[in-house]
Amino acid sequence: MALKDFYKGKSALITGASSGIGKDLALLWASWGCNVALAARRGELLEEAAAQCRAMGVDAVALSADVSNRAAMEAIRDQLIERWGFVDLVIGNAGVGGLNPGHVFDLDIHKKTVEINLIGLANTVVPFIPSMVEKRQGVLVGVSSLAAFRGLPKAGSYSSTKAAQARLMESLRVDLRGYGVHSMCIHPGFIETPMTDHDDFTMPFMVPVRKSSILISKAIAKKKRVYLYPWPMKVLTFFNRIMPCWLYDRLMPRISGQKDDIKPKLL
Ligand SMILES: NC(=O)c1ccc[n+]([C@@H]2O[C@H](COP(=O)([O-])OP(=O)(O)OC[C@H]3O[C@@H](n4cnc5c(N)ncnc54)[C@H](OP(=O)(O)O)[C@@H]3O)[C@@H](O)[C@H]2O)c1
Repeated sequence: MALKDFYKGKSALITGASSGIGKDLALLWASWGCNVALAARRGELLEEAAAQCRAMGVDAVALSADVSNRAAMEAIRDQLIERWGFVDLVIGNAGVGGLNPGHVFDLDIHKKTVEINLIGLANTVVPFIPSMVEKRQGVLVGVSSLAAFRGLPKAGSYSSTKAAQARLMESLRVDLRGYGVHSMCIHPGFIETPMTDHDDFTMPFMVPVRKSSILISKAIAKKKRVYLYPWPMKVLTFFNRIMPCWLYDRLMPRISGQKDDIKPKLL
């Protein structure tokens, strides 16, 4: 089956669809005949992207909401089930990056990162579980990061929430397997989006966003459980994961290329 045939006639909710990875996934899947719901906070950007999707002949709806707001995400679920009857693909992609150096660690930034990346992912996927279990089908996708696999320097908030996202999707995968529902986790390397539009640290093997969307689409169609990309970063991540702590502690700050004067901030 051609890749686009997997998406044709399906419906998808994508959070974080006002820019970057989420927006590009919505545009790509719309071009393949998938109805798309685009969610994020910036309504005008969502509406522009949804209009682009509709121009490709699918139903597309812009839903302005903060993923950390449980009631707002449940309302999105209600609205979409009323509109389409069922949502096949739920993509928890909304997220914030950030830097939070240990010696000046900012708990406000940490809390915000947890609320958006971790609670926000649960608020996105969990409301759809009952309808998927009832129909014994559906795919839940969490967009984590390769930063999930070790505590990256100056990134305690980001790395810890990305690791927790992966564990959430994994537990759901095990629990929902017997109910016909697939839960999976995507771990991108560096992708060209507004989130990486800075020079605070080195970002090797950067991937154009459309290439990233194709790779994510293939991983979902193949119902991968866990998907790491691009392959050179997957290889680096393998060595990163097996590196002993004494070496990791000395090497990682050096090769990350981070500036010394970084202040805590969301990206
Ligand atoms: N780019 C990379 O190199 C990279 C690498 C690994 C993983 N990722 C992950 O990929 C995902 C998408 O990132 P991106 O690179 O596409 O960055 P991006 O262009 O900055 O997009 C982030 C998206 O998340 C949305 N968002 C942020 N906070 C939100 C909230 N509270 N409620 C609803 N939506 C919210 C933003 O929309 P609003 O501001 O309009 O709400 C935006 O649409 C993130 O989870 C990120 O951690 C990215």
